[in-house]
Amino acid sequence: MSTQDELKRKVAEAAVPYVKGIGIIGVGTGSTIRYFIDALADFKSDIEGAVSSSVATTEHLKKVGIPVLDLNETGTLDIYVDGADEINPVKQLIKGGGAALTREKIIAAASKKFVCIADGSKRVDVLGKFPLPIEVIPMARSYVARELVKLGGQPVWRENCVTDNHNHIIDVHNLTITNPIELEQTINHITGVVCVGLFAMRPADVVLVTDGEQIVSF
Ligand code: A5P
Repeated sequence: MSTQDELKRKVAEAAVPYVKGIGIIGVGTGSTIRYFIDALADFKSDIEGAVSSSVATTEHLKKVGIPVLDLNETGTLDIYVDGADEINPVKQLIKGGGAALTREKIIAAASKKFVCIADGSKRVDVLGKFPLPIEVIPMARSYVARELVKLGGQPVWRENCVTDNHNHIIDVHNLTITNPIELEQTINHITGVVCVGLFAMRPADVVLVTDGEQIVSF
């Protein structure tokens, strides 16, 4: 296991106490979350079920024996656990490196508490070095890209990627996101955008990170 994987495993295990005793939890997507699901498997008798943010997470949850539930049936969730691609000091995030941003954002919105877990390399002062993922309706891809150029970004189509919702992803390079809420609102208003992977209006509530022996929470 690489050092980074070891850090992901460690921080994922640190999130387990946050969900113990909570009946239904929201579960994100990505390599860090895969470790979280593995850790959760040992406590599955305590868990009623999970709402999943992707097909990949659904398959993993089922494999370890955790029931997967429909968000339409569960109502508001007490807790959502997910990773991130970048995290700023006020817990705003870039997400969507794994193309699951839309369902992730829906579950984050429908949860009382969002616990974000990541290795320390994800911490930044200003968001934007990681290309900002945007899910778009396929026929709007070029139009949305032109609008993103007007905002100063360099949009790149993530070719060969079709999301679980059958849409496309544009990754926007060269953004320095000094006002994340404003940018999230602006991109949300471009016709054809399904979702932007900027989690600023609904940031994480708790961030757990590790870059060594200690787990830091803020
Ligand atoms: C999935 O679409 C993403 O939002 C992930 O949560 C994010 O990319 C973090 O993934 P890793 O845990 O693999 O770094």
